[in-house]
Amino acid sequence: MAFFKKKKEQLDISQLELPKHIGIIMDGNGRWAKKRNLPRSAGHNAGGKTFRKITRYCSDIGIKYLTVYAFSTENWKRPKAEIDALMKLFKDYLEEALKDFKDDSIVVRFIGDKTPFDDELKALMIENEEGSKDRDGMVLNIAMNYGSRDEIVRCVKNIAMGVKNNEINIDSIDEKLISDNLYTANQPDPDLIIRPSGEYRISNFLLWQSAYTEFVIMNKLWPDFDTSDLDEAIKIFNNRNRRFGGI
Ligand code: IPE
Ligand code: IPE
Ligand code: MG
Repeated sequence: MAFFKKKKEQLDISQLELPKHIGIIMDGNGRWAKKRNLPRSAGHNAGGKTFRKITRYCSDIGIKYLTVYAFSTENWKRPKAEIDALMKLFKDYLEEALKDFKDDSIVVRFIGDKTPFDDELKALMIENEEGSKDRDGMVLNIAMNYGSRDEIVRCVKNIAMGVKNNEINIDSIDEKLISDNLYTANQPDPDLIIRPSGEYRISNFLLWQSAYTEFVIMNKLWPDFDTSDLDEAIKIFNNRNRRFGGI
């Protein structure tokens, strides 16, 4: 039996409290590829497989909202070849989603500014949103060209415009109005944000929304992340004592 590698046992999460909204910073694709002497794009392809698996799993176990960070407003700094590979990956996934996921219950939404994407990708994003908007299952927010600071700037501009046009009274500006002017309007704040790859930072993800989110940093690289790691994160979340400023 010495040569038999035991698969990590899946936890029984049926007795645990499920977070309503999970955020995932899908990080570590590049390092995963580097370790294998592969191009970074191979890491992104592997990360894409993990994304499909984890999305399906979250929907199956009854998570109501899942927000995945796929491409940040800062990721445009990367070499063109890497960006091209990522855009191709996004297109492949969205084409597949249109064809194969017709009977799915998942509602697909994009958070972030679609403007810089090419017309083909933009059309696929809109088609996926339109085609899934009347479904009743998990809401999947895919953060693409998303940056929380950019989101907050947009929100401030919208509200300022409303004030200028006498549609918004300054005294009515409150936390709810700000939340309502973010991409995640009408959604609960994330209860849990998971960051694989061991980095202890938020990298411009859901800054406003994560005021009281529980963070779980995991050492696995995203392509190696498995459903058992998600269970583990939910278990850690269950052991946290959330006080929201109270006692
Ligand atoms: C995350 O993996 C994917 C994107 C940011 C698009 P990385 O590409 O950041 O992987 P590392 O952090 O370099 O390992
Ligand atoms: C955050 O990861 C963005 C995504 C996972 C899409 P990065 O790899 O871009 O973050 P930094 O540069 O390590 O902070
Ligand atoms: Mg990274």
